Amino acid sequence: MMGGQTPIFILKEGTTREKGKGAHHNNIAAAKAIADAIRSTLGPRGMDKMLVDSMGDVVITNDGATILKEIDIEHPAAKMLVEVAKTQDAECGDGTTTSVVLAGELLKRAESLLDSNVHPTVIAQGYRMASEKAVDVLEEISMNISNKDVKKLRKIAATALRSKIADAAGDLLSDTSVKSVLAVAEKRGKRYVVDVDNIQIVKKQGGSIDDTELIEGVILDKEPVHSSMPNHVPKPKIALLDSSMEIKKTEVDAKIQIRDPTQLQAFLDEEEATLRGMVDSVVKSGANVVFCQKGIDDLAQHYLAKNGIYTVRRVKKSDMEKLAKATGGEVVTDLSDLKKSMLGSAGKVELRQIGDDKMTFVTGCKNAAAVSILLRGGTEHIVDEMERSLHDALSVVGVALEDGRIAAGGGASAIEIALRLRDYAATIGGREQMAIDAFANAIEIIPKTLAENAGLDSINSILDLRQAHKKGQKYAGLNVHTGKVVNMMDAEVIEPLRVGIQAIQSATEAAVMVLRIDDVIAARAGGGPPGGMPDMGDMD
Ligand SMILES: Nc1ncnc2c1ncn2[C@@H]1O[C@H](COP(=O)(O)OP(=O)(O)O)[C@@H](O)[C@H]1O
Ligand SMILES: [Mg+2]
Repeated sequence: MMGGQTPIFILKEGTTREKGKGAHHNNIAAAKAIADAIRSTLGPRGMDKMLVDSMGDVVITNDGATILKEIDIEHPAAKMLVEVAKTQDAECGDGTTTSVVLAGELLKRAESLLDSNVHPTVIAQGYRMASEKAVDVLEEISMNISNKDVKKLRKIAATALRSKIADAAGDLLSDTSVKSVLAVAEKRGKRYVVDVDNIQIVKKQGGSIDDTELIEGVILDKEPVHSSMPNHVPKPKIALLDSSMEIKKTEVDAKIQIRDPTQLQAFLDEEEATLRGMVDSVVKSGANVVFCQKGIDDLAQHYLAKNGIYTVRRVKKSDMEKLAKATGGEVVTDLSDLKKSMLGSAGKVELRQIGDDKMTFVTGCKNAAAVSILLRGGTEHIVDEMERSLHDALSVVGVALEDGRIAAGGGASAIEIALRLRDYAATIGGREQMAIDAFANAIEIIPKTLAENAGLDSINSILDLRQAHKKGQKYAGLNVHTGKVVNMMDAEVIEPLRVGIQAIQSATEAAVMVLRIDDVIAARAGGGPPGGMPDMGDMD
């Protein structure tokens, strides 16, 4: 009773709490672990990771965003780095590994500053200043690219692809990427807008990467429902149906008692008449191709075949939308509404043999912006990884076309930024100067890692690069094959400016966010009952 010092509990029992330095070190260690996990994949000579999930499914990839998406991450600070990769992927489609590796390095450098008693707020402030300056420098040394410069656009695609795909196939894919992006690019005033989602990527295992084709139109991985349907329809009139061509089943179980055989016949006749009516609506509209999102009854299939109508059922919703856009047709929900004016048109619809399967090709569409890439490759893993690389390549070409600005790759931009940040730090002074210097050192992790992954001596490489930049060679970067320092603009290792800017900004934001946390209060894992379960050890 004396003194009345009863402890006050404000947190639920079982809650853990970590404060101050402990919280910082723990969070930074987790973030660094994430960055370290994907570092070895960076650049053209980076390695792949094989990820095996709990079901035993295997993914082989070099793509930072994919690796982080596939592995289960528990730690909250580590999850923030995963967010960095996601943001980078959403904004630019490329540079995910770069952004995460940079965030990890910023935190590693911050840790040494914390150890020498620099306050986290000061570090955060210094990092923000450095990030702004870095973006200014990058903008200043970036270059214009004309939307007509197809050769350069191909190089941008190649830089994004090169880190993933061998040379010859890389050229074909770079070319395919540029062609398809140019096909879907919309001109609005003086600017281009590119939505790469308009490019359909269809994967078909078998053949080799060189068999990859750009198709001006839509591809469906489906064949007609009936073998006697035509497999080639020139100048098709296409009906797009969102309803099934089946007799509707009742929701509740119903019994119909039939007492004499004529009744049964009448009942069957009625069903048949309904299906026939559905097919008649199609025929009457003048359609000779049907793409149906739902199911089609056998009898309806038979009538459709008899009328020579090319019919595909269970088409994916996303493909229906693409078909509507490409052919100018309208998706019809009620068959009885189907009119001639709602039909789509194209040059032809045909069935083609691809590998072991048959696929439907809708080409010569009304809307030329409908393009598809038929991706081929020896194994499922190759095709999957190619799809991811192609996504990067399409994105960077799109971004370059939209923004019209490019920066030098191969670590050139990072070294130039580091050089100028050190000069800038000297003009700031105080403790922020230390943080800006730390930022400059951190950004050199990009060329350092490129060199390491290429089996080069990373310290020598950095020294050579710094020396070249000191002499004013602002585009000097690393040829990862020879280890020589070369002009990256001349070597055409180029990237959209936006990829670099976004990587700097999101890495800084994540690092600052982790630094500003000095208290981690975690609820008990598993969310058991308050106070935990009583000890049941000696209960029988
Ligand atoms: N031919 C090349 N020579 C040197 N560096 C290259 C080359 N091609 C790409 N790079 C560099 O590789 C890095 C990108 O590697 P990548 O594995 O694609 O990671 P990210 O997920 O960050 O895009 C960039 O820094 C880029 O400049
Ligand atoms: Mg990349």
